[in-house]
Amino acid sequence: MTRNIRNLLVTGGAGFIGVNFIRWLFDQPDAPERIVNFDKLTYAGNPLSLLDVAEQYPDRYVFIHADICNAAAVRDAIQTHRIDAIAHFAAESHVDRSIVAPDDFIQTNIIGTYTLLEAARQHADQIRLFHHVSTDEVYGTLGPTGFFTEETPYAPNSPYSASKAASDHLVRAYHETYHLPTTLSNCSNNYGPYQFPEKLIPLIILNALEGKPLPVYGDGLHVRDWLYVTDHCAAIWQIMKHAQPGTIYNVGGRNELPNIRVVETICDLLDTHAPPLPNGAPRRSLITYVKDRPGHDRRYAIDCSKIERDLHWTPAQTWESGFAKTIRWYLDNSAWCQQVRSGEYQNWIATHYG
Ligand code: NAD
Ligand code: DAU
Repeated sequence: MTRNIRNLLVTGGAGFIGVNFIRWLFDQPDAPERIVNFDKLTYAGNPLSLLDVAEQYPDRYVFIHADICNAAAVRDAIQTHRIDAIAHFAAESHVDRSIVAPDDFIQTNIIGTYTLLEAARQHADQIRLFHHVSTDEVYGTLGPTGFFTEETPYAPNSPYSASKAASDHLVRAYHETYHLPTTLSNCSNNYGPYQFPEKLIPLIILNALEGKPLPVYGDGLHVRDWLYVTDHCAAIWQIMKHAQPGTIYNVGGRNELPNIRVVETICDLLDTHAPPLPNGAPRRSLITYVKDRPGHDRRYAIDCSKIERDLHWTPAQTWESGFAKTIRWYLDNSAWCQQVRSGEYQNWIATHYG
């Protein structure tokens, strides 16, 4: 089947994956006529990452500064822009923050998802698809072997993953109970351009460039399955265009790496491609083992054979190619890095959006 999507609502489109998704989608031959980016602009939202897109597509790109928990604002967006599909990215996404302060995670990830689902249900004649972007963290942790499949029981271990698990269950319930046409993807760790430098890879790149300590939690042997962000975007669009309502897909890179190897690789690449540290020391000397994250999941690994088989999706980037592109992007975009590191982007938001 092929679904025709004309007016797409993207929630959280000013965040890392949302920005990449909107940028990537405008380049596709089957891009929607209009993309409406609905974002609250929390600390993680950065509209500067889309300024050129807004200029290039003045009639096709719309930005709405609003909270997904605001039912009236969501309804208004759906009606005003005759939305026929929703790609739901908006979330509080950082595990460490969820451990310190879970409130916003419960609010946005659970209540916000419920609010969107309810608005979609009220516009059932209009909405052809509600796609929910979720995470492999809902499955909990793996030992040294095995993979998460779509049948793996949920066992979330952090307030973040528990809130995402709750949102996944709501999406499932709206499909089963109200026949809302939903699809859901559970994806592994993304990396690439425009990622907020609280997450491992951009944090380590920017700290290593500045000669700051590189914090590695615990023994550094926790394993993540890394996927280049536009490969995730392509998977989401493939699902939105072709998947049957009610379907769930796991998405991953078949790219398992222990954290310490990721950090060492960044150090070595920057030693080769960036100016040396003032004291001439190799960047690996900045690696600092710190206290472990509470409830730290040991290993994630995705079995993505279902999406490969059903929708013929495979990642375009290998770890080597994706990682080289990522390092190059952060080196070439020092202005963006500086705006984010210094908090200047928030002054810009305050000036333009009050
Ligand atoms: P992010 O934190 O970079 O961006 C989140 C965006 O959502 C920001 O623009 C923020 O302003 C917006 N937002 C937050 N609360 C909002 C609210 N109440 N109303 C409207 N907008 C709000 O997150 P990300 O890394 O881009 O992740 C996007 C989605 O993908 C999330 O749902 C996350 O759970 C999921 N996911 C992320 C990864 C990953 O590796 N980053 C992997 C799998 C799944
Ligand atoms: O698996 C998908 C998930 O990936 C997404 O659902 C989340 O939104 C996203 O944030 C990410 O979660 P992680 O917790 O895996 O990502 P993070 O970048 O925070 O950490 C990656 C690994 O690196 C993890 O094992 C913790 C470790 N880490 C992280 C930071 C920030 C460190 O060792 N040092 C650090 O400073």
